[in-house]
Amino acid sequence: MKIEFLKLLNFRNYSKLNLSFHPSLNIIYGKNGSGKTNLVEGIYVLAVTRSFRLASEKTLISLHASLCKVEGNVYNRFKTNYQVFLSKDGKKVKINNNKVSRVSDYISKITVVLFHPDDLRFIKDTPSTRRKNLNISISLVTVEYLRYLNNYNKILKQRNAYLKQMFQHHNENSAYLNILTEKLVDYGIYLYQKRLEFVSAINEYIDTIYKEIAGVGKLEIRYLSDYDCKNKEEIFAMYQKNLEKDMMFGKTNVGIHTDDLKFLLDGKDLKEYGSEGQQKNAIISYKFSELEIFKEKTGTYPILILDDLFSELDQEKIENILSLLKCDYQTFITTTSLDHFKSLKEFSYKTIHIEQGSVVEESEHE
Ligand SMILES: Nc1ncnc2c1ncn2[C@@H]1O[C@H](COP(=O)(O)OP(=O)(O)O)[C@@H](O)[C@H]1O
Ligand SMILES: [Mg+2]
Repeated sequence: MKIEFLKLLNFRNYSKLNLSFHPSLNIIYGKNGSGKTNLVEGIYVLAVTRSFRLASEKTLISLHASLCKVEGNVYNRFKTNYQVFLSKDGKKVKINNNKVSRVSDYISKITVVLFHPDDLRFIKDTPSTRRKNLNISISLVTVEYLRYLNNYNKILKQRNAYLKQMFQHHNENSAYLNILTEKLVDYGIYLYQKRLEFVSAINEYIDTIYKEIAGVGKLEIRYLSDYDCKNKEEIFAMYQKNLEKDMMFGKTNVGIHTDDLKFLLDGKDLKEYGSEGQQKNAIISYKFSELEIFKEKTGTYPILILDDLFSELDQEKIENILSLLKCDYQTFITTTSLDHFKSLKEFSYKTIHIEQGSVVEESEHE
């Protein structure tokens, strides 16, 4: 999957941009604040219709404008035109100039793997951040996953409400609760299996990639779930065992909504013991593993975006990462300095120089 061109209209600090890309490597460089992240954010918005940044969606629209547009041609086997419009009134999307009424029918047509400095939160934050990331990744390669997840969350809510009611009214009738629990377990087992599969797939790649970047260390991801090593009866029994506690708290204390991931480097938890550098290397290894899994599952490599990855890495690590890149997929790298790329002699690529929301120079290197 490759993007041929990107057009931006009133998008962040780009009033108007029309830019074509190299099929394998694009290096976007410029001073801090010039608009490098904004540009790759444009590509990301074209794919998923929202930003990876935490700020509210309306900040995507240029100050003093009321509507912004992102457009691009993406080719896989066929060439397809995509358009995303954002305004105060909401979002509109088009494929080949035809309006797509449900945004969910638009998303996941273009797959992107992105590294952004905030991704370090994936290791440092609470389990819910890791679950969220995992959910997004799996849903990109497994069509039914989101439906099961929504169903699980719906039943979980109903179960929690019923637990509260039972507690308040000293209601001992657990027949209805059992029905809810059974449904929860059915959806939960599906989600557990998909998560387990995904984490195992990541583990097939991540250690080798980590060694190529960092040189030493054995990296592994561990999936932690209450459902681990249990059959359906055992899972159901676990809910029964927790019933008193669940009723007291008015919420379900066990289940896949408490799952977590652990990054283990030489057996030690990276969250507790890892340096920033090791955490960063682990995240990059995770992203490169995702790239391979997406290719395995969908038959096509996603677009890879590495935003500001090189700013605090030493040149040796940078070269190790550059040597991982393949021509088979399209990569976008943002950087403040072209000095990092002297070793790229074998690769053909394009450099794009940005100043204050404009392209001031483009050049192809063969
Ligand atoms: N909605 C907006 N309208 C106009 N300018 C914006 C908007 N959002 C962000 N900017 C500007 O974009 C610039 C930051 O761009 P960014 O892509 O993050 O820079 P960098 O090149 O460092 O990655 C800042 O100057 C900021 O003021
Ligand atoms: Mg930036």
